[in-house]
Amino acid sequence: MSEPVSQEKEINRIVSGMRSSGKLHLGHYKGVLENWLKLQDEKECFFFAADWHGLTTEYANPEVVKAGIWDMLMDWLAVGIDPEKSTIFIQSQVPEHAELHLLLSFMTPLSWLERVPTYKDQITQLREKDLGTYGFLGYPLLQSADIMMYRADAVPVGEDQVPHIELTREIARRFNFLYRQGKPELFPECQALLMPTSKLPGLDGRKMSKSYGNAITLCEPWKDTEKKVKTMPTDPARVRREDPGTPEKCPVWGFHQVYSTEIERDEIREGCTTAGIGCLDCKKILLTHLNDELQPIRDRREDFAKRPDDVRDIIQAGNEKARREARKTMDKVRKSYKIDYNL
Ligand code: TRP
Ligand code: SF4
Repeated sequence: MSEPVSQEKEINRIVSGMRSSGKLHLGHYKGVLENWLKLQDEKECFFFAADWHGLTTEYANPEVVKAGIWDMLMDWLAVGIDPEKSTIFIQSQVPEHAELHLLLSFMTPLSWLERVPTYKDQITQLREKDLGTYGFLGYPLLQSADIMMYRADAVPVGEDQVPHIELTREIARRFNFLYRQGKPELFPECQALLMPTSKLPGLDGRKMSKSYGNAITLCEPWKDTEKKVKTMPTDPARVRREDPGTPEKCPVWGFHQVYSTEIERDEIREGCTTAGIGCLDCKKILLTHLNDELQPIRDRREDFAKRPDDVRDIIQAGNEKARREARKTMDKVRKSYKIDYNL
């Protein structure tokens, strides 16, 4: 795993959210969750299921968002996001996020939201949904509220989210300027911890994505993974076992880049280019590595699935902990807006 880039100021608190995307796949694991696992050992982390963000685009199908949240949280726990180390919660269960979003909206210039690059992009990309809504325009500000609520110093995100972090910095600066003159700053200017895009391809060599049907789901039965790998396309030049191939032309090779040792890769390259090994032999090496990684995740997922009450308790405790922190922030923010009436 590569290190997240940057580090100017000391980082103590991390916040990150994920939209409900249902069952998570290996791309999520390699791209995001491995980073979270590392961060939770080093920093104070708040990880939440961004169900309200899901509703900005799925407002017409709320059941989709709901179903996705549960699967996603189970997968977080299965990979080892640990409630003893991280605060795991659901955004909508901490309604303070909505209040902060509203209060920040008063001082947010409309033009700052309109110029967020994802805004126009997404509206055109998701043309089948009507995203000419107030909520969709405001969604980056909701994200700012998510981050500022916990006074986070850093946010692990992918490249596409960097403009949202920049917006958050601007909002924090504006808030501190308007309401905190002569007082200690309330909101730090958070930095993006850029998570390098995962090197893991999908089964067909394109980016791994549920919608492409080329994903290995983290908790699928092992026989499904085995079958998917065994039927993966390989270098088309290797029609017969005796035909030599070129690893670079094969999506399996992309997986070996992530999973295999250098010695194994040397052997595979040699075997592939000389037809010394067959594709099935090559895939078996990969399958061993995949199973080493996935077995404990599947086991833990199964275990949690057997005790849904414990999972509910975990999430409820996370919601409460997040809420306690959120209330602290909101007390100060309410004072800033002079709406602390003390009745
Ligand atoms: N917008 C993020 C995404 O689509 C999810 C998200 C919501 C988030 N709130 C956040 C990420 C706060 C980091 C911090 O991926
Ligand atoms: Fe791909 Fe491995 Fe077959 Fe070469 S031997 S074509 S790398 S699966």
